[in-house]
Amino acid sequence: MRVITLINQKGGAGKSTIARGLLSAAEARGINAGFLDTDKTENLVQWAGRAAEADNWAEDIAGFKTLNPEEARDIVLDLDEEGDIDLFIVDTPGDASELHDLLATVSDLVLCPIQPSTSDLSTAIGTANWMYRMRARVDDPSQLPAFRAAINRVGSKPTKTEARVMLYARANKLVGDGAAPPEEKLRILPRYIQQRDAYRRMDEEGLLGRMISSDQRRKEQFFKNPKHLRDALAEMDEFLSLCLAIVEEEK
Ligand SMILES: Nc1ncnc2c1ncn2[C@@H]1O[C@H](COP(=O)(O)OP(=O)(O)O)[C@@H](O)[C@H]1O
Ligand SMILES: [Mg+2]
Repeated sequence: MRVITLINQKGGAGKSTIARGLLSAAEARGINAGFLDTDKTENLVQWAGRAAEADNWAEDIAGFKTLNPEEARDIVLDLDEEGDIDLFIVDTPGDASELHDLLATVSDLVLCPIQPSTSDLSTAIGTANWMYRMRARVDDPSQLPAFRAAINRVGSKPTKTEARVMLYARANKLVGDGAAPPEEKLRILPRYIQQRDAYRRMDEEGLLGRMISSDQRRKEQFFKNPKHLRDALAEMDEFLSLCLAIVEEEK
């Protein structure tokens, strides 16, 4: 089982959105997927409920929730042992806690979504530093997951500020406390996620692939062009491929 965990010490960066997008891409590909919601807002659990109500859910996606750090880790370990789920997506609250430490020990990839602004970038560096420092706290640092920042909510035509922040982020921002070499660069995924209305619709209505099918069924009565949904699903599909490639690379 591959485990992708969304972590950012700051709320509102896109953790739950990317979790929904990855689940949508997995479902559309026919991957056995599941999720764990560890945020007290229960964003992901509630989304699954809305999706089911709108008939845009897939019953074989298993959803779990807990606020308890040990229980969260045990859910992942148990599911891994059972072997029924191939891709497991974990959504977390926007802070740094014992929960995040424990989840990191059972994840394959930690994704830190950031929006292209200077303050988001510095929060991502803080989150990257947290993973970096964790190496000193675990018995076998080689077992720690890969870490990547994912730039989210980029306009289709990035503004000058966005472009500058992205360049700056790629250039030479270092992770580490400066005192303990070797320092490392903040690792950023080479694909940015666009700001899309389709992601807001996904939040209201469910899995992207199921929404596309529903739209097509309704098309006779009310014309709805599913192109925007298709573009979003294609973006998430590519994003999922990128994440899985990193997991394989760093295994
Ligand atoms: N790529 C995107 N396109 C459009 N809206 C987005 C995008 N990413 C996030 N949002 C919106 O931003 C808000 C915060 O995103 P969310 O995923 O809930 O963040 P987090 O889980 O990190 O707190 C939500 O209203 C969400 O719909
Ligand atoms: Mg969230």
